[in-house]
Amino acid sequence: MKLTRRSFLKLNAGAIGAASVFGAPGVSAAPGVFGAPGLQTRGIVFPSDFVWGASTSSYQIEGATKADGRGESIWDVFSRKPGAILNGQNADTACDHYNRYREDVRLMKELGLRAYRFSVSWPRIQPAGTGPANDKGLDFYKRLVDELNDAGIAPFLTLYHWDFPQALQASGGWLNRSTANRFGEFASIVARALSDRVNVWITMNEPRSFLGGGYVAGVHAPGLKLPLKDVLQAGHVLNLAHGEAVLAIRAAASRNVRVGWAPDCSPAVPVTNSKADVDAAKTATFASPRVRFTESAWWSNNTWWFDPILRGSYPDEGLASIGADAPSMSAGDMRTINQPLDFLGVNLYGGSRVRAGDDGRPQNVPFPKDWPRADNGWEIVPDALYWAPKWLHERYGLPIYVLENGLSLHDSPAADGDVHDSRRIEFMTQYLAALRRAMADGVPVRGYLHWSLLDNFEWHNGFRERFGLIYVDFATQRRVLKDSARWYRELMTSGRLAT
Ligand code: FCB
Repeated sequence: MKLTRRSFLKLNAGAIGAASVFGAPGVSAAPGVFGAPGLQTRGIVFPSDFVWGASTSSYQIEGATKADGRGESIWDVFSRKPGAILNGQNADTACDHYNRYREDVRLMKELGLRAYRFSVSWPRIQPAGTGPANDKGLDFYKRLVDELNDAGIAPFLTLYHWDFPQALQASGGWLNRSTANRFGEFASIVARALSDRVNVWITMNEPRSFLGGGYVAGVHAPGLKLPLKDVLQAGHVLNLAHGEAVLAIRAAASRNVRVGWAPDCSPAVPVTNSKADVDAAKTATFASPRVRFTESAWWSNNTWWFDPILRGSYPDEGLASIGADAPSMSAGDMRTINQPLDFLGVNLYGGSRVRAGDDGRPQNVPFPKDWPRADNGWEIVPDALYWAPKWLHERYGLPIYVLENGLSLHDSPAADGDVHDSRRIEFMTQYLAALRRAMADGVPVRGYLHWSLLDNFEWHNGFRERFGLIYVDFATQRRVLKDSARWYRELMTSGRLAT
């Protein structure tokens, strides 16, 4: 079986280094579990200034990979590799958003989005990853942002969502320390061009995930499987690149913009609300043992990725467990990496289940076979949206935006032409109820941006996994608002979570 991204989580029973408990008696499901009877979701109201939105990324929707001087991306190259993408698909056209962005913004407006998160394709702006800007590439994003602002939708701009210039890959990619400087230059070009009309800036999407897929498991571009020392070195360069980008955005921006970051987090969720289980789950969420640097538990290591950016140091436990595999650093690196941020963006889909063992230490509790899952196999863990924002805020102290959360379903239109995705509505209801509970506890969660606006190119899984609120018929490019989109429109208008 090929391991992919969060499917690692299913296999990471040893991820916290403790014996697993299989079907231990008396361990109940955490409240808020998808479809759990008696869950209270009625009467839940969100604040009127809560930012409701949806997210996409350049490579997954734009298509037009050869238009207007765009350079080659590592994903163009990877997609041509036999067997790399399901059914040999590629994103040469994807949602053709590059040509249809006006129609897509019209749909966003019809939907009532307050914010839209998109990413900028680096090879569109600098075809070889370095050198002067390609004005035609910049113009596309200017037109898109103008369209959004005219529609009253706040643009949330991500600089890097895995769409990396092939030319830079050829000179070592993230293993080459100078890539961090190249990224700073790219950030500076984009900030100079767009900071007059974009207020919310995100440097990077899911560095852990990108390295896990692209440099550890080899299932994402550029398809490498490197020794740990190299992977962590690339991670360090990614961290530096984030810091350089924050500095560059602030230096180049024509006004005071807000800058954040979009890591993925997989919390350990306690199986009961007992103090012992909650403490154990929290400990497990922030633990960084050796096993979490291996391929099978890669996606459960949070602190290794969060601490340098938000605290200015790698976690001691992580450093001790990797020993000589630690990245080499230069004086001043941690200062560059640890830039003050205006908010913490976080992408949340699932997590693991944990209880306190007899000695109080965390024990992983495997998901039962019949646990609710998305169509791509990911476990549905609504309480991730309660515990992760709460603990991340406690540890790092920043206001939070959930920048991604969503469900893959293999949707298709019914005989009436509509897409009846009631499972997505149920998913959002449960997850948002959990998020609202965190807010009621005082966690400053400022917004929720659903992944995704449109069905799109889901990386190595091609077009099979449909995460969109809007269905896309890829043969005709026809868009259809799914039932969940109409439901979301109601929620965004009323602020009321109705079921
Ligand atoms: C996230 C990615 C996003 C999409 C969703 C399903 O990890 O950031 O591009 O693939 O998962």
